[in-house]
Amino acid sequence: MLAITYGKTADSRAAWPGLSVLMILLLVLSGPVFAQSAPRQRESINSGWRFTLGDPVGETAELRYDVRPAYDDAGDGKEADARPEEAAKVRRDGSGVLKPWILPTANPFIKDPAKRHVAPEGNPGGDVAYVQPGFDDSGWTLVDLPHDWAIAGPFLAQGPYGGMGRLKSWGVGWYRRAIDIPASDKGKSIFLDVDGAMSYATVWLNGQIVGGWPYGYNSWRVDLTKHIVPGGRNVLAIRLDNPPASARWYPGGGLYRDIWLTKAQPVRVAQWGSAVTTHDVSAAFATVKVALAIDNAGSEGASVSAVTEIFALDASGKRKGRAVARIDHAPGEAPAGGSVRLQGDAVVRQPQLWGPPPTQSPHLYLAVSTIRHGGRVSDVYETRFGIRDVRFDPTQGLVVNGERLRIQGVNNHHDLGALGAAFNRRAAQRQLEILRDMGVNAIRMSHNPPAPGLLDLTDAMGFLVMDEVFDSWELKKTPLDFHLIFPEWREADLRSMIRRDRNHPSVILWSVGNEVGEQYSGEAGASLTRELVMIAKDEDPSRLTTLAMNFAKADMPMPREAEVISLNYQGAGIRGIIGQYPAFHAAFPDKVILSSESASALSSRGEYLFPVAGAISGPVRPYSGGDPVTHQVSAYEMHAADFGSSPDRVFASDDQHPYVAGEFVWTGFDYLGEPTPYYTSRSSYSGIIDLAGFPKDRFWLYQARWRPDLKFAHILPHWTWPGREGQVTPVHVFSSADEAELFVNGVSQGKIKKRDYEYRFRWDYVTYAPGEVRVETWKQGKPWAQASVATTGAAAALALKPDRAVIAGDGQDLSFVTLSVVDAKGAMVRPAKDPVRFSIEGPGEIVATDNGDPTDMTAFPSHQRQAFNGLALVIVRGLPGQSGRVTVRAEADGLAPASAVITVQKP
Ligand code: GAL
Repeated sequence: MLAITYGKTADSRAAWPGLSVLMILLLVLSGPVFAQSAPRQRESINSGWRFTLGDPVGETAELRYDVRPAYDDAGDGKEADARPEEAAKVRRDGSGVLKPWILPTANPFIKDPAKRHVAPEGNPGGDVAYVQPGFDDSGWTLVDLPHDWAIAGPFLAQGPYGGMGRLKSWGVGWYRRAIDIPASDKGKSIFLDVDGAMSYATVWLNGQIVGGWPYGYNSWRVDLTKHIVPGGRNVLAIRLDNPPASARWYPGGGLYRDIWLTKAQPVRVAQWGSAVTTHDVSAAFATVKVALAIDNAGSEGASVSAVTEIFALDASGKRKGRAVARIDHAPGEAPAGGSVRLQGDAVVRQPQLWGPPPTQSPHLYLAVSTIRHGGRVSDVYETRFGIRDVRFDPTQGLVVNGERLRIQGVNNHHDLGALGAAFNRRAAQRQLEILRDMGVNAIRMSHNPPAPGLLDLTDAMGFLVMDEVFDSWELKKTPLDFHLIFPEWREADLRSMIRRDRNHPSVILWSVGNEVGEQYSGEAGASLTRELVMIAKDEDPSRLTTLAMNFAKADMPMPREAEVISLNYQGAGIRGIIGQYPAFHAAFPDKVILSSESASALSSRGEYLFPVAGAISGPVRPYSGGDPVTHQVSAYEMHAADFGSSPDRVFASDDQHPYVAGEFVWTGFDYLGEPTPYYTSRSSYSGIIDLAGFPKDRFWLYQARWRPDLKFAHILPHWTWPGREGQVTPVHVFSSADEAELFVNGVSQGKIKKRDYEYRFRWDYVTYAPGEVRVETWKQGKPWAQASVATTGAAAALALKPDRAVIAGDGQDLSFVTLSVVDAKGAMVRPAKDPVRFSIEGPGEIVATDNGDPTDMTAFPSHQRQAFNGLALVIVRGLPGQSGRVTVRAEADGLAPASAVITVQKP
């Protein structure tokens, strides 16, 4: 699929030097205007915004998108996977609210012209001080985007706020920025392109309302052309209005993704107007079809022609050599104010296919489409895509380029831990690198459209993606969630996600919903499913559509409508109901079944609680997996949410049902909010990796299964237990070996062979004595791997280790620096919880600190952080435009300090 090229590489100006000689000749011949400046420009306008919280005092204008139902704010802490409820009915006549002026922004995504919206006369909000071009905003905070207004905290340690992460993301926020538009832009169409704004955005330009978009996770565009003043200063004012009680996790707040200004000629490729699909894919050749939607904003009809050239890209995203194929699209007529679709196809010989590592490589191509009308080039539009063949086969599961691949996936929410919801490319890349190391090949974007930059990364790194649009439909999960806008926005929100994302080769499946309440509503729910599946098919016939079901059973109406059966937990068994895989397989022999959510195992990194349960999988209960005082969950990794299972149990179920295409674990990383089972905490316990990015023990359980050729053995717990001498301290080992022998201080604790459906070695009657625990393992009779853990001495010093010692000084790039507490010999003291103070010198700043402890209420920007089980994290950013050496220091009472140097380079 394609990623419409975003950012610098997507900008047609950047692509200019690579155009073929013929094309340059054509451009020169087409006249001086276009020879001087590219017909399309996409500029980042992330820098230099002014921001304030709240509406102006004393203003009377009605600035709400719509009337919201009253709600009871004690509603937090509702059990995950609880049945959604009937929504409160509110007045929806559109009077006295902004909705009628916002809805027309959805028009390009509403298929039936009769259903499109016409904005009423008038300019609501036009009198409000904050939208006036001359308003003095110099007292507001200066911010660069992406910006999350809530992440700095403080945490709301008391009250019913655990579900949304104990950070005040709700409320009103305003952003203002001037944009200078040169006189030479006269006659161009000018758009504001927003990758994501949380939420209920309304945009005014020069005091005039121009549109907006309520759903905080989608990308959207408003047309500024009518109210722009070329040759002058133009002022944007954006109001966001994030509802309380609107999410089951931390949504963040603000302009939290990239924002762009796009300038184009009146006859140009529409927003996300290219669709590239690949067919008859083989090693010898592939057919690439390109459909272009061309808009004509002019007052006269336009005859339009287009040529698309296809270039191979190298691993860094640069074009390799000359075009490998060329498409001469059949020309067409675009009526004034209308559009035309130009199709064409070409064969690429010996294509370099896109596929997930380690067995395949994620090769990418670029389609450069040149649009001509009236004898001139009126647009050059780039679409990144991959050539691949993805099939869902009911018995084999997922087949990519002829290779059967088990889905080894994780769910992830959109927050980036201590950085919050503000998208950061490096932070997202780091998450993917850690997941790749574990053996992950697939990500489910739970439960909303991701930042476009994340899909650029999954394309480039070769992850398979389930792209998901909604967590609720008409029935609500929280009082003010998406159900409020579903009736009027579902078509636009679904189409916009698919149109935006359809060219990304990483996206293999659309999901139209997660555990929606309509599962319980029989035929009505099925008919709504059908409607959404039809919309998805209309936008993208090349992919299948699914939705995640935790309740709907094989004999109920909803699953009939899903093209792929995605089950949350109920496949393996949920709430005492036996596993549903066989029933679904029998009812839908022609459909692929996968587990869209599995496990929901819970743990706190490095917290080993005793006694250790005998059962391999059980719910968290006081003193059985969970500590009701510290609110930590045991890292023996055998406890789960009440409806979930330990990884071991899921593996057994997967192995017993080989037709299941694989699983998406709930979750890869811990996330802010939804801290089941302790809603007093700030962040989840379900991650295989904690909020700071440190692997929990489970990491190695998955790695052993997903990378079975990797020779390692991982021992838990640690072996530093002053006071536990003589007490039973079970030892478990994760490895893909099939036989293992454990030694405590040289004394064998027995040799164990894994039996069928066993995935760990466990010695449950080991008695603790300080010293060393060592394991030797064998696979198929041959020595495999050894490992040991030893008792450490008292904490003596700190150590700092940056994940990258050189970063770009672009104001975005980051170094993630791990702090560990070590003993006199340099070994990490695993139980250490020392409070640490961080400082920095040079052209860099500490953006945030963390430690992965779900109960830690120290605000993320704090330079003081307690180590959590030996570790803490410092996130360092180079100051924009600066370069030089940055020194990070860590100090703690009674311990030798540490420092680390990071070089910041000019971008
Ligand atoms: C599921 C739900 C997820 C999350 C998870 C928690 O039921 O789809 O969003 O709530 O449970 O374990």
